[in-house]
Amino acid sequence: MSETTTATARRRVLSGMRPTGRLHLGNYMGALYNWVRLQEEYECYFFIADVHALTTEYANPGPVLANIDQVALDFLSAGLDPAKCVLFQQHYVPQHAELNMMLEMITPLGWLERVPTYKDQQEQLKEKDLNTFGFLGYPVLQSADILLYKPDFVPVGQDQAAHVELTRELARRFNHLYGGRHVDDAKSDKERLAELEQEAEVDQILPEPKVLLTPSPKLPGTDGRKMSKSYKNTIEMAESDENIRAKLKTMVTDPARIRRTDPGNPDICPVGDLHKVFSTPEVNAEVRQGCTSAGIGCIQCKGWAADSIVREIAPIRERRASFEARPDDVQDILRDGERRARVRAAETMEQVYRAMGLRR
Ligand code: TRP
Ligand code: SF4
Repeated sequence: MSETTTATARRRVLSGMRPTGRLHLGNYMGALYNWVRLQEEYECYFFIADVHALTTEYANPGPVLANIDQVALDFLSAGLDPAKCVLFQQHYVPQHAELNMMLEMITPLGWLERVPTYKDQQEQLKEKDLNTFGFLGYPVLQSADILLYKPDFVPVGQDQAAHVELTRELARRFNHLYGGRHVDDAKSDKERLAELEQEAEVDQILPEPKVLLTPSPKLPGTDGRKMSKSYKNTIEMAESDENIRAKLKTMVTDPARIRRTDPGNPDICPVGDLHKVFSTPEVNAEVRQGCTSAGIGCIQCKGWAADSIVREIAPIRERRASFEARPDDVQDILRDGERRARVRAAETMEQVYRAMGLRR
């Protein structure tokens, strides 16, 4: 009996991340923190989406690809454990490219042009030429990443929800085209495609995964805007205590609290938002009391926020140092993850090729 059909099989989770740079607290809270918890309960596959990085960085891939080792360290230092989940780098599992190619055959262009990130990103990244086949096909590759592993859930942020929705639509289309019990050759293409609208009983060769929206606490950067690499307002996951304290010192606060004697409001202060994410309820209560009564100064309050962040980050930094000291082990972990991922991916491709009639 295969792993997928045993009653005891754990439900499966898959997610990926582009290696855009060393990860910061926003990436940590927005993804890794959640993944580390999921690995306790689910059969998890987590990967570094190196090929996805090329869709925007193809003209100068060096700097982004140089981040791959750093992101692997960030994954491990956050607490992803190769004994509990499969960690790998996308392009080492060539089945991602294979399924991408098969899905391309059935993807209507209109679906891709309508994905909101397509036009948004082209607008935002004006300095890049994103009028490429690869960039338009980004969500197809992402669908291949997902469907290869037949996950039950895909944990992502809200910004990726449309991509998972497209993945579900592609899976449905694939299953209707190739999962029919009796393929009726007498029907015209039009008739076959029209049937997609009906709820005909078909084999779920590629099951539709569900999106698992990551709760996203408001995490401001040092300038009060959303923490983001492009704003240069980040606190990195591997930041030193000294840097954390220095960055907090210059962080913006409630603009209405000008003098020490002015009361403030932690609900409209970025430092207050950090407390909500990283500090205990007791500290949050002290912040609220002290801030609204002008009982504490911002400098003291920022010191407490730094303490809370340091406490969260210290074990992460420690694990990072231990992995940095043995780079060969990190490579072994990835290569082993790739082997495990390939087994699962090859199984799916065999089914896909058969369903499409390319193989007997
Ligand atoms: N597009 C995702 C992002 O930018 C990264 C990604 C690639 C992904 N493939 C995936 C996420 C598959 C989830 C599942 O964050
Ligand atoms: Fe913000 Fe703290 Fe200053 Fe209040 S006391 S304004 S929460 S930094």
